[in-house]
Amino acid sequence: MKGCIIGPKIRSDCEIWLLEEGKKVFDKFFYAPMPSIVISDGKVLFKGKNLAELDFVLPRIPRTYMWFGYKILKTLEGKVYMPIEPRSVIVSHNKFLTLLALKEAGLPVPKTFMAASRGTFENLLDDMNYPVVIKLLYGSLGKGVMFADSKQSAKSLMDTLERLKEPIFLEEYIPNPGEDIRVFVLGGGVLGAMKRTAEKDDLRANIGIGGIGEPIKVDTNMKSISIKAADVLGMDITGIDIIKGPKGPVIIEANVNVHFEGLKKTLGMNVAHEIVKYVKDEASTVDYTTFEKFMGWLKRK
Ligand SMILES: Nc1ncnc2c1ncn2[C@@H]1O[C@H](COP(=O)(O)OP(=O)(O)O)[C@@H](O)[C@H]1O
Ligand SMILES: [Mg+2]
Repeated sequence: MKGCIIGPKIRSDCEIWLLEEGKKVFDKFFYAPMPSIVISDGKVLFKGKNLAELDFVLPRIPRTYMWFGYKILKTLEGKVYMPIEPRSVIVSHNKFLTLLALKEAGLPVPKTFMAASRGTFENLLDDMNYPVVIKLLYGSLGKGVMFADSKQSAKSLMDTLERLKEPIFLEEYIPNPGEDIRVFVLGGGVLGAMKRTAEKDDLRANIGIGGIGEPIKVDTNMKSISIKAADVLGMDITGIDIIKGPKGPVIIEANVNVHFEGLKKTLGMNVAHEIVKYVKDEASTVDYTTFEKFMGWLKRK
């Protein structure tokens, strides 16, 4: 079986690890950096080779390449197995669109508010409970998430965003003791989950900025909302971030380009191997050679 990873020029530890594990399992497995890819005549070409001739493509599309990544995946759609749908790259790299899709699917998400200028929020700010959360639509590793303790702080943060020509995205704060849960979904199941506790003096639980992870078993409800979220967003591989609020679990984010070193450290799991094994199984059950077979596979999904 032949396949490749499509990702940024500089490979992250996760991409290197996936490559290493994939090379043990596949006949041919290589890395196609996005700056070296050309889309021409409905074909995705890398070093002159048509990537549609592979059995699978494993997308690792960062936000900076979101639109080109979308076009690559859209061109390959239906021709090779991909664990990430093209639209997921756009939706999951945008926190507003993610929560909108999840809300429409009836999943629990925080209340959100979006505007292009602060003036529009003036009345709303009087009725909010504080703190409120203000986010860049595309932050990651906690960078781009801000908390405002009062109307005054919220106004000044929003003015700054307006000045930077960033949309203003406000989220209801879900009360929690500085903890969230990262559920790693792989192919309609939960591979593992960890509770992350924020560093003292921080409200953000991300591991990359000092949060500490510990293994946790998620209950049936948490499992089912995570799996449903992954499905709604069109991802077979993803990390769903959940806060256990006073009224139950609330999904705050889904990660399309999920990092999994934290999970390896916390659960001692060979995550890259599990991903590669899953991709192999899926790619071998899907036969894209005839349209009928493809539609049959789609119906089974
Ligand atoms: N609505 C919220 N209420 C309470 N805490 C939040 C909320 N949104 C985010 N956080 C905290 O901030 C962290 C980072 O937020 P998240 O939206 O996951 O951004 P990132 O993409 O940077 O990980 C979360 O892990 C959580 O600890
Ligand atoms: Mg997060």
